[in-house]
Amino acid sequence: MKFFAANWKLYKTPSETRDFFGKFLEPASKILNSDTQTEILFFPPAVNLEAAVQSTKGFKVQVGAQNSYFESEGAFTGETSAQTVKTIGGTWILLGHSERRKLFAESDELIAKKFAYVQKLGLKPMLCIGETLEERESGKTLNVIQKQLSLGLAQANANQPFAIAYEPVWAIGTGKVASLEQVQEAHAQVRAELTAKGYSVETPILYGGSVKPDNAKALIQIKNVNGFLVGGASLDAKSFLEICQA
Ligand code: 13P
Repeated sequence: MKFFAANWKLYKTPSETRDFFGKFLEPASKILNSDTQTEILFFPPAVNLEAAVQSTKGFKVQVGAQNSYFESEGAFTGETSAQTVKTIGGTWILLGHSERRKLFAESDELIAKKFAYVQKLGLKPMLCIGETLEERESGKTLNVIQKQLSLGLAQANANQPFAIAYEPVWAIGTGKVASLEQVQEAHAQVRAELTAKGYSVETPILYGGSVKPDNAKALIQIKNVNGFLVGGASLDAKSFLEICQA
């Protein structure tokens, strides 16, 4: 199974969302109908979730939120309810993106609580991990991966599906994609950690960080790369389609 996930971050209005799907869905259906081993997911901004769910009705694509809280309702100003995401037809929740960690001070402990809650609701969490440039340059990459995985999955349920997205922070939005060797090494480490902790060998590990149509083909061949989490290049229907065809 290969997973192609679009993280739209804080881009697109509801009408731009509908526009995108107007261009994307028909050609994408050709891939999805002829290849049952491909899954395509979208993480639009929370206010566009409903537009995304409605535009994709009847198509084999999944929609989810970029973040959610570990309670379904209450006095939590500004948060997104995973229960509501589920109610409107969302199936996945992205958690622990490096932008949430850095700009919104999310800790591994908070991410772990959200992860467990999302699984409890029957939704699928996608946990993002990855080292900063400073951590890579000081040789700490594998330690960071190990720590973020072990803390983020601290309350995970091994019997419920989830995904990991390895996104080296220095490769996000910079055009500096990690080398094939760097990706291979990091993904092998993630797979080894997951296996040692007793998680399913089917748990997908996605790579993210400056994935583009022209580097997708080489990256997808790497062992333990089970798909991509794409930022910038997922905003354009044609370029995301090309990546999904990799
Ligand atoms: P870019 O593809 O724009 O580098 O973003 C990657 C990312 O952060 C996806 O979550």
